[in-house]
Amino acid sequence: MDTKMTGWGILVALLVATASGAVDAKTMGIEKSAFGKTAEGEAVDLYTLTNGSGMRVGIMTYGGIVVSLEVPDRDGNSADVVLGFDTLDGYLGESPYFGALIGRYGNRIANGRFRLDRKKYKLVQNNGPNTLHGGTKGFDKRVWSAKPIREDGSVGLRLRYTSADGEEGYPGTLKCTVTYRLTEDNGLKIDYLAETDKATPINLTHHSYFNLAGHDAGSILGHEMMIAADTFLPVDDTQIPTGKLRSVADTPFDFREPKAIGVEINADYDQLKFYPGGYDHCHVLRNQDGDLALGARVADPKSGRVMEVYTTEPGVQFYSGNFLDGVAGKGGAVYYERFGFCLESQHYPDSPNQPAFPSTILKPGQQYTSTTVYKFSAE
Ligand code: BGC
Repeated sequence: MDTKMTGWGILVALLVATASGAVDAKTMGIEKSAFGKTAEGEAVDLYTLTNGSGMRVGIMTYGGIVVSLEVPDRDGNSADVVLGFDTLDGYLGESPYFGALIGRYGNRIANGRFRLDRKKYKLVQNNGPNTLHGGTKGFDKRVWSAKPIREDGSVGLRLRYTSADGEEGYPGTLKCTVTYRLTEDNGLKIDYLAETDKATPINLTHHSYFNLAGHDAGSILGHEMMIAADTFLPVDDTQIPTGKLRSVADTPFDFREPKAIGVEINADYDQLKFYPGGYDHCHVLRNQDGDLALGARVADPKSGRVMEVYTTEPGVQFYSGNFLDGVAGKGGAVYYERFGFCLESQHYPDSPNQPAFPSTILKPGQQYTSTTVYKFSAE
């Protein structure tokens, strides 16, 4: 900045910067801009949150999607660490749930069916015989209403969506509020809240594909992963949990001590062979109390970026981006298999059909709450 600038000059410069949509990464702030329209003509807004500590996140009202997440490395250089598209059109097309809020039920429900209070429900089957991530038009494809929030130590965005009774086959009008907060200490905190007027399954999660070296940096196999889980849920050949909890000991699923994601991803092991692309399983977290606890930690040795995942959920789906097949992404990047990983905090897949799993049924008069924090640092 011109050192001869007067106080008024600085003020004007700041106002111009704000009006032009530029965000100063050194100050905490929220900017809103138009991001296009859905096929039905609904306007979509993009909110850019800056925390004054080097992080910036772009979240749009379509799907509550995190479209960008800038995080400093060990030298203070920022990179966008989530896969995605440059424009709304990319997300309206065939997006593999990049950055999205997932609901009403994250992951799979077997054969798109469940029974509740002696009634049979039939869902939209959008993944072979199963229902995946809420159905054909899940929460990731809905436009949420948004309200910026400013609090001590964070800036945020409160998103609301009401899912109609019968939507995608699910019972009950479900009122959902998801609050994203970008905190001064470099956390992206997500609080989920929901209420229903009829009993319904619910399992909300967030589906960012991370690459801590940068969204365009290629393979994530060198990232070092720790997952605070002693067991995981083996699946059948349509990726539905068998119902058994299997110990991670002596399996490629043992991430109790940090190890590179790639070390055993190609191992000759039944659970990796079903879907030859790699990991796509729910890990049963040690913490089952509903308190916020460390569930996973991932470090990229090259950039030094570290991401810790704290959650109140009993499980986390670790998905190693197996089905990425040359997706044309942001800034000309092309995403192939294992170029991004997801850590989706959640209850277990297919819980509505598996009475031994922790319940995912929300009843009228109850409140569904869930919190997950993606916390960034560098080493
Ligand atoms: C699932 C994968 C699925 C992916 C969709 C993950 O949560 O576990 O099986 O292919 O989402 O992109």
